[in-house]
Amino acid sequence: MQRILITGTNGLLGQKLVYLLLERNLTSAKQYQIIATSRGENRLVTKKGYQYFDLDITNSAEVERVFTQTKPHVVINTAAMTNVDQCEKERKICDAINVDAVSYQLRALEKMQHAEKNYKPHFIHLSTDFVFDGEAGPYSETDKPNPISYYGHSKYNADVLVEESAVSWAIVRTIIVYGVVDNMSRSNLVLWAKSALQKGEKINVINDQFRAPTLAEDLAEGCMLIADKKAKGIYNISGRDTYSILDLVYQIADFWQLNKSLIQVVSSATLDQPAKRPPRTGFILDKAINQLGYKPKSFREGLNIIDKQLKGLDK
Ligand SMILES: NC(=O)c1ccc[n+]([C@@H]2O[C@H](COP(=O)([O-])OP(=O)(O)OC[C@H]3O[C@@H](n4cnc5c(N)ncnc54)[C@H](OP(=O)(O)O)[C@@H]3O)[C@@H](O)[C@H]2O)c1
Repeated sequence: MQRILITGTNGLLGQKLVYLLLERNLTSAKQYQIIATSRGENRLVTKKGYQYFDLDITNSAEVERVFTQTKPHVVINTAAMTNVDQCEKERKICDAINVDAVSYQLRALEKMQHAEKNYKPHFIHLSTDFVFDGEAGPYSETDKPNPISYYGHSKYNADVLVEESAVSWAIVRTIIVYGVVDNMSRSNLVLWAKSALQKGEKINVINDQFRAPTLAEDLAEGCMLIADKKAKGIYNISGRDTYSILDLVYQIADFWQLNKSLIQVVSSATLDQPAKRPPRTGFILDKAINQLGYKPKSFREGLNIIDKQLKGLDK
């Protein structure tokens, strides 16, 4: 039985991974031992079918203790400081979570691997389109990163640590992840736009940044395709199509028949955000599609899934 340890399971991707593995354990012959970890209390509604550890990944001793105790075959590191402006302002904390904590995990696995010859863990690390400057998207796995925000720098620094480590590794790069999960600590583009427009609030939406939004379920599937195959190297796992943020919000409004006149078109410069954002990202997905069999849904299909989940018809 594959033991999969996931960090950051209170977050969007972390929760989707736990639910995906629980579903697979119910429906397929292949079984997983699920080790969910996040800082603080477990916020998933379903508490059965997996182990949960309160694990702050910035605590190196705790990382080593939990890893040694559970001896995972695969670690999926989803935990991160993901608020880009917060990273710009709180750089020490950003480095502690996004960079140092990655080295603690790698070090713990390297030590365990060194101590036991047959133990060969696979480390899957989540990265971002923000490692690029956004001047020449869509990007492939071999394009050279050039981050323009502190968050982007921190994620790229961690990518380099992973690439240089002695454990077997994969880096999953993704873009604007959207989805519905239990007790979320932060919203995402789809839920934010839908909720604001439904309340009749005016929203400022930028028309000069382009992204390929990623359904959280697709990202979780992509991570598990990598875990199952123990695939190595960098993989782009995002939605297929790149749109401007404005176009995405129009699509959200159209889907739920919301009032588009509440959408005020602005440029990035007028928002005056602490962190710079890459103007145009988007990914070339050929590697994931051809090597892993990754099948991303369209944005419209993603909205349909969210709609069903919000109506409680689907998990
Ligand atoms: N979301 C996106 O649009 C996006 C885009 C590109 C790349 N990514 C990358 O994809 C990964 C997953 O993102 P996500 O959307 O799932 O993010 P998320 O919803 O913000 O989840 C991150 C989780 O990490 C937890 N965490 C933070 N610091 C921790 C620590 N020191 N120890 C343990 N857990 C900690 C957070 O805990 P709390 O809930 O308690 O704060 C949160 O539950 C991240 O690596 C991110 O950089 C995300």
